[in-house]
Amino acid sequence: MGSSLQLFPEQASTVAPQVDALYFFLIGVAIFFSVLIAGLVVVFAVKYRRRSEQEPAPAPATGGTALEIAWSVIPLGITMVIFGWGASVFFKINRPPDDATEIYVVAKQWMWKLQHMEGQREINELHIPVGRPVRLKMTSEDVIHSFYVPAFRTKHDVLPGRYTQTWFQPTKPGKYHLFCAEYCGTKHSGMIGWIYVMDPPDYQAWLSGGTAEGSLASRGDKLFQDLACVNCHKKDGSGRGPALEDLFGKTIEIEGGQKVAVDEQYLRESILSPQAKIAKGFQPIMPTFQGLVTEDQLLQLIEYIKASAKKNEKPTPTPARKEAR
Ligand code: CUA
Repeated sequence: MGSSLQLFPEQASTVAPQVDALYFFLIGVAIFFSVLIAGLVVVFAVKYRRRSEQEPAPAPATGGTALEIAWSVIPLGITMVIFGWGASVFFKINRPPDDATEIYVVAKQWMWKLQHMEGQREINELHIPVGRPVRLKMTSEDVIHSFYVPAFRTKHDVLPGRYTQTWFQPTKPGKYHLFCAEYCGTKHSGMIGWIYVMDPPDYQAWLSGGTAEGSLASRGDKLFQDLACVNCHKKDGSGRGPALEDLFGKTIEIEGGQKVAVDEQYLRESILSPQAKIAKGFQPIMPTFQGLVTEDQLLQLIEYIKASAKKNEKPTPTPARKEAR
């Protein structure tokens, strides 16, 4: 890779070198066997060619146990290496660390909306600190999009109607491309943005220079009052709906006897399709909020419910101020 001709985007996340190493290994294996096989075809074609009309055709070869074992075992070994290596990188990419900073992503035709827990909202830009894992919880307002940051080797589909997640840990400050990697309409190619990876002090300065709208959870709290959710979901559990504090992360029983885990997906469904899974002991009387709340507001409500559960167990971890690199 010369500096003038750059075949690969720069490596700016912890997984980037691992993804590239696996990729180069795959290419190496493919090139090795392509050259070997094509080369032998040519060499043998020349070496064993029929030299004259009179030369008899040789007896066909049969058997060759050692050869057959070799060409079975060697490819098996190589594919197992690829499988094991690939699986380990796959798990790394799909399992965010517990201490990751959470950021919400809402995609729509044709922009990226990003929300920090602290309240900052960005469009087609994301500011994050270097050296800290970031987990993205993503959804779409319309069609399928895909969150793609080549420098992080991160690409994950963003789907309407559900939450998907991905994560990365940037390793060097800089400005990196964000693309949409799923064809999503006429302006798909314009659905682009920038990731700004900042030194922690710069990031803190950026955060504190943000809006005064309040955190995601506090906006959710306000919405919880404004939409009158609070009238039925009373904190003491005396309302017509279940109390929602302390609920997140628990497993509850629903009508019909099944158990469901209270996660983002369940909360989302309960707001938009309240009849789908009724908490045991309650009447199916909640109206749907489909069309009344936006994806952004859904996230705020969910974050409020999450935060109220978190408040009682452990304080939200304050951003670690690691030394820059
Ligand atoms: Cu969004 Cu392509």
